[in-house]
Order: sequence, then structure tokens, then C-alpha cells
Amino acid sequence: MDNRPIGFFDSGLGGLTTIPYLAQYLPEEKIVYFGDTARTPYGSKAVSTIRQFSMQIADFLKSKNVKMIVIACNTVTSTCLQLLKQKYPDIPVVGIIDPAAKKIAEVCTGENHIGIIGTKATISNMAYETAVRNYKTGLNISSTACPIFVPLIEEGIVSDDIMTLSIKHYLDSFITENSIDTLVLGCTHYPLIRKEIEKLYPNLNIIDPSKEIIERIYRVLSDNDMLAKDSSFENTFYASDLSDNFLNMINTIFEGSNFRVAFKSFDIK
Ligand code: DGL
Repeated sequence: MDNRPIGFFDSGLGGLTTIPYLAQYLPEEKIVYFGDTARTPYGSKAVSTIRQFSMQIADFLKSKNVKMIVIACNTVTSTCLQLLKQKYPDIPVVGIIDPAAKKIAEVCTGENHIGIIGTKATISNMAYETAVRNYKTGLNISSTACPIFVPLIEEGIVSDDIMTLSIKHYLDSFITENSIDTLVLGCTHYPLIRKEIEKLYPNLNIIDPSKEIIERIYRVLSDNDMLAKDSSFENTFYASDLSDNFLNMINTIFEGSNFRVAFKSFDIK
């Protein structure tokens, strides 16, 4: 048993989409979350910058005595997972792409046409294709970057004509030309526009990595005898900019329960 909190982080509020699943499946676990809302989006930044930011955040989470670091961000997972695992060999570091790749391999066959959508960083380094291949070969996978989604979502522009146009801009021809039947939301912000995507393309089977990561968290904690029991820790959410949208999301997710919100910023070296 280990009652210390789990550290989660993302470039902004996207990683919060994993938390309702954690609360549903592992209600005893408590968290420290960091959203880098002042420096989001990461997905169009240089890999060296993403690495620098991620190390700052992981150091901060470690200073909060977390028992595990969960990278609730596809962009950071695709660029920094190995680095962070090497830097913190004493605690488990879990990325979001491998659990989703496992799910894709479980539910898809060579008959399917799988579409991966994500940030420029995640798509350009083929992180999903590589991870899926470790579980299954012979799958049809196409991918495309949708760089405007994250800034719009961070602004709270979700159920709006601008978002509908943006989705159509990136996905209309991608889905038609590649006959996509299975869409992977390869960025943790995208579950926040899942309804809008489903409205436009109702026949798609959608895979949400924010849900798939929970089973991996459970397995790693359970294998290491680190599951929490009756922890009195108060869930704590840090952000580098306490934007209204970030605060509204937390209030919606944790309505009626106790949590703490705090500001934390980093110097750009
Ligand atoms: N939620 C991050 C991801 O999963 C968004 C990245 C960004 O800041 O561009 O990739």
C-alpha cells in the first residue's frame, strides 16, 4: 500500500480528461496535477523546448513526493518518456501512448482503417505507429496533425461554429480519402471535442487514450503493491496560469468534493 498521491501533468487542461476515469475506476487514488496553461500549446514547439518544460514539471511533481508520474499528454509522451524514465528510476513513469496502442491492437484488424489525430510533435515522430507495431503488424494506420484544436480548447471554444469549421478543415478529407472507420484521439485535449466530432462523423469508432491509461496505472500500482487505501491527501491542481477555463473544468469534474487549486510558474532558462 502507498497513500502518496499520483503526479499527473499536461501542457494545459487536456490531461484533466483522464481524471474522471481515475475517479471512477481507482477512487482511492489521490492526485497532484500540473497544467502548464501559461506555456501551452506544446505540440508545435521544438522538441528541446518540450523536454526542458517537461523536466521542470517532473522535478516539481517529484518535490511533492508523488509515488508515480503519469504523462497525461501525448506530445510529452512521444518526445520525453524515455528521458523521464531515466531521470526518475525510483518511481514508475507512465506514458499515455502505449496503453492506447495496446487497445488499438486489441480491437482492430487489417480490415480497419485507423486514423490517428494529434499535435504536430506527436504525429511527426510517428509515436503511435511505432507503439502499435509492438503489439500487432499489418494494420492500416493514417495520421494527421490538427494544431489549431488545442489553442481553441484552451480558450474554451468548443461548441462553436469556429470549432466545427476547424474539425471539418482537418478531418473531412482525411476521413474520406483514407476511409477511416476508427479514430484515435491522440491528444488529451481532444476528448473535450469528442461530441462535436461524433456529431459530424457519427459512424466512427472512437478510441480515447485518456480512458485506456487507467488500466495501465492500475496494473503498475498493483504489481508494485502501491495502491492507495483511505488516503487523506487532498487532490491538488497546479497551473502556471489559473485561467477561467482551467478552473471551470476542475469545478465541473470535482463538483461537491474537496480539492485545492494553486499557482506555480517556472523560469524559462
Ligand atoms: N494534451 C496535449 C497532448 O496530449 C496537448 C499538447 C499541446 O499542448 O499542444 O498532446
